[in-house]
Amino acid sequence: MHTRVTLHRDFVISEIDERLYGAFLEHMGRAIYSGIYEPGHPEANDDGFRRDVLDMVKELAPPIVRYPGGNFVSAYNWEDGIGPREERPVRLDLAWHSRESNQVGIHEFADWCELAGIDMMLAVNLGSRGIDAARNFLEYVNHPEGSAWSDLRIRNGRQAPWNVKLWCLGNEMDGPWQVGHKNADEYGHLANETGKALKAYDSSLELVACGSSNPDMASYPEWEATVLDHCYETVDYISLHMYFTNYADDLGSYLALSEKLDRYIGSIAGVIDYIKAKKRSTKDVHICFDEWNVWYHSTERDKRILQGNDWPFAPAILEDAYNVEDALLIGCVLNTFIRRSDRVRIACIAQLVNVIAPIMTESGGSAWRQTIFYPLYFASRFGRGKALRLAVDSPTYPVNELGDVPYLDVSAVHDEAQGTIALFIVNRHPSDSLEFDVDLGGFTSCRLIEHQSIDYPDMKAANTAERPGHIQPTPGQGLTVDGSALKGALTPLSYHMVRLE
Ligand code: AHR
Repeated sequence: MHTRVTLHRDFVISEIDERLYGAFLEHMGRAIYSGIYEPGHPEANDDGFRRDVLDMVKELAPPIVRYPGGNFVSAYNWEDGIGPREERPVRLDLAWHSRESNQVGIHEFADWCELAGIDMMLAVNLGSRGIDAARNFLEYVNHPEGSAWSDLRIRNGRQAPWNVKLWCLGNEMDGPWQVGHKNADEYGHLANETGKALKAYDSSLELVACGSSNPDMASYPEWEATVLDHCYETVDYISLHMYFTNYADDLGSYLALSEKLDRYIGSIAGVIDYIKAKKRSTKDVHICFDEWNVWYHSTERDKRILQGNDWPFAPAILEDAYNVEDALLIGCVLNTFIRRSDRVRIACIAQLVNVIAPIMTESGGSAWRQTIFYPLYFASRFGRGKALRLAVDSPTYPVNELGDVPYLDVSAVHDEAQGTIALFIVNRHPSDSLEFDVDLGGFTSCRLIEHQSIDYPDMKAANTAERPGHIQPTPGQGLTVDGSALKGALTPLSYHMVRLE
């Protein structure tokens, strides 16, 4: 099967905001405890942070990490996580039916972020709490000194403020499962008033209002229209979430879910434009896709803990073991974000360690990279620069509700500073190679500098503690550059990262 792609240096979608490759860490499961933090582990540093995990996080290089939730934040008292550790309360976490020790709080998380070279993106609790707790938290985190909360931070050992710029106004407030769930009018009003209070302190903050938890919510997309009607002038982003499943074990439909994502983004971009026009506003609001990933492998197993009454500490929940088909879908999802980078400025893989995560650990044992680590790694490393608008001609296949979906999924990023072009490619075809024929006419005398692929016949194969390197990228084969043409065959159900200079 033949495909044809044309790219040109002048056909630019957008300069990509590097925060498109952000991540998320929630106080739940083993994300924090025995994920990033495990005192006593042979790899732990003096502060209890696992060096093996930190090294893998640094490989992924997320520029931001969203914290502390998630559903967790909607009943979280941030003050529980400050002060002497031995005095911090143990609380029951209503979201995940667990016990929270509060041994990690804002100070410890900020220390970890500094070690990792990551900026914090903090969420405030608009479920069980409201404006007052949010403004106090902001003062504690960002004010230099000379006020009650900033002086308390200093007494707790941190002189300089952390100066966090990006704040989420709650989490998934459209969801009936959320502690303190609200309807769109209630939430829109609260988001606006909370946002006004936070910006009264610092007008340069960037604020994120909650959009839909997924595109199948009954309230979508009216939720976004109502919420933005309240807070358009106050906020900078509307957040979206989406988790992908393959319960039906239908690979073609599964790999097409990135098309559903694309339409979700397109619809909300339309809602933003509508509210902007309605308000005669000159300001832009962008999309912050602050939770996305595959999440379904662990759902059945987790019911016992989530519905139980034993309130365990750091239970092993949402520990999806990702396979090859998941890595292909993640490649398609990242391509969608790159192609939509004019509207989606920030995105956070949910999550980073152990909980639906690219990095897994054994408590007391090893850490390893899941299959989905690799497309993320390539996009984060080489997907910074200008997203190029591609003309793509590919055969398609029909998918219920989505129509014709192309077998070839591709995005391209031009890094002008490095003088390189990166292409990220997935062949969705279950049995046929795709002839890949790229016209690089807008670039002269290109040279192939790297081709890596994930090309493994068993779609259900995964990495485990016992076989951590079972699935990993290998040098790709069969692509050549001749003048201004990149050509070759892409094997069925394969992922590729190609770099040219
Ligand atoms: O990431 C896991 C959960 O998914 C988050 O806590 C919540 O926001 C979403 O429903």
